[in-house]
Amino acid sequence: MKKVLVATSKPFSKDAVNKIKGIVEKNGYEFLLLEKYTEQSELVNAVKGVNALIIRSDIVDKDVVEAADQLKIVVRAGAGYDNIDLAACSAKGIVAMNTPGQNSNAVAELVFGMLILLNRNFYDGSTGSELRDKTLGIHAYGYIGRFVAKIAKGFGMEVHAFDPFVDKAFMDADGVIFESKVEDLYSKCQYISLHLPANEKTKNSINLPLLSKMPKGATLVNTARKEVIHEDSLLQMFRERPDFRYASDIEPAAKTQIEAEFKGRYFFTAKKLGAQTAEANNNAGLAAAQQIADFFEKGDVRFKVN
Ligand code: 3PG
Repeated sequence: MKKVLVATSKPFSKDAVNKIKGIVEKNGYEFLLLEKYTEQSELVNAVKGVNALIIRSDIVDKDVVEAADQLKIVVRAGAGYDNIDLAACSAKGIVAMNTPGQNSNAVAELVFGMLILLNRNFYDGSTGSELRDKTLGIHAYGYIGRFVAKIAKGFGMEVHAFDPFVDKAFMDADGVIFESKVEDLYSKCQYISLHLPANEKTKNSINLPLLSKMPKGATLVNTARKEVIHEDSLLQMFRERPDFRYASDIEPAAKTQIEAEFKGRYFFTAKKLGAQTAEANNNAGLAAAQQIADFFEKGDVRFKVN
């Protein structure tokens, strides 16, 4: 009997877990669960003898891959798979997948939750500002970027986007202004929302030359990855531009310093929780379980990323 392990340090909702279990057992596999673990060694121990693994932001590094003596497939229930050592997986013939699009709306909604919180001064009673008629720049126009554009249009914002992998015609069809140069996105938009993956090309790419181009009232929202931000630049931007504000659901390394020096100009959630809704848990978790069943039963590797 094949064994499917759901390993999530940040758990799915109970409902999603039960539904994942349902799909796993319907296919005749054994369901195993490791939730809220705090030590990486717990994951390393749990993967022994397991044939399939479902994770979220959990780290599948060389040690995990090495310990996973029976592993055939790991599915990241979510979008970003920078937490998986793809080379180590490929070297052992392990298929790695993600579940693109499944948790995108949840992340997109949080972008606006954070923007409004900042724009209304944390609801402290002082005069805030509106999103209507303001410019929003979407940096990377994938599934999340598209949801962000749709919601922004509902708010009456002027939406621009930059994505080197997306054609102008595609953005035109969504009523989004295509920017061919990333610098133009930053110089034209007061609000920027980041939706790019963390990889060798994007790490530290959000730097001072880009940020300093932003117009007055510059507000950066990061629901992507902390690695894409060049943190020294972030601090410098805070120092040099008293109008600059930053919101993120991923705490920056410089969190303590920002909290001490730039009161009222930042917002950070305690945990990365862009995708932490009942709907996103269900969508991504169930898709992951189904992809595993399709892989074992039909050899379906549509969502393979390695
Ligand atoms: C993703 O890449 O899908 C998001 O960052 C969500 O990550 P999470 O599953 O850890 O909440």
